[in-house]
Amino acid sequence: MRILVATASRHGATREIGRQIGSTITETLRADGIDHQVDVVDAADIDSIDGYDAAIIGSAVYFGRWLASARRLIGGAEHHLHAIPVWLFSSGPVDTDESVRESARSPVTAPWAREHRTFPGRLDRSSLGLFEKLVAAALRVPDRDGRDPEAIDAWAREIAATLATSASTA
Ligand SMILES: Cc1cc2nc3c(=O)[nH]c(=O)nc-3n(C[C@H](O)[C@H](O)[C@H](O)COP(=O)(O)O)c2cc1C
Repeated sequence: MRILVATASRHGATREIGRQIGSTITETLRADGIDHQVDVVDAADIDSIDGYDAAIIGSAVYFGRWLASARRLIGGAEHHLHAIPVWLFSSGPVDTDESVRESARSPVTAPWAREHRTFPGRLDRSSLGLFEKLVAAALRVPDRDGRDPEAIDAWAREIAATLATSASTA
């Protein structure tokens, strides 16, 4: 089973979430004795998902949208994404308030996806460009890392369990 984990990240937070998801899926499937390969890549580095049996695709959210490389990846591969199980995630709000997250508009339309999970992201002013710093200041966005490794792990294990079930019934 070949599994793709592709992320679009401007400042690294989403890439790190993707790496964690890839490692957890690898460990879980290995423990279940399922033959598999997990490729963790930047969405910008691939233009096709052909050959994969499942995909997890994530992007940071900027100004309410996914980054261009992730939008391009799913836009160019929709026919294949209908044919395999696909999970999406966004790394977005740095405010962990549930109500804020619940009310956030979905940054991508993908009715074929099994699920679209939103994880709190990270904002570190020292890594931002001038324009981004001005926006963060204007919106009074706090400097914080809201990522929750346990929640990310739990989600990756759920995905691995689904993949393990489909592998054993195939
Ligand atoms: C200029 C700017 C705009 C942002 N816009 C949004 C947004 O519209 N919605 C959201 O949920 N998060 C927004 N964020 C927060 C980022 O999505 C979050 O920090 C994310 O984890 C960054 O991921 P990255 O390090 O992979 O680029 C914004 C951050 C910056 C600096």
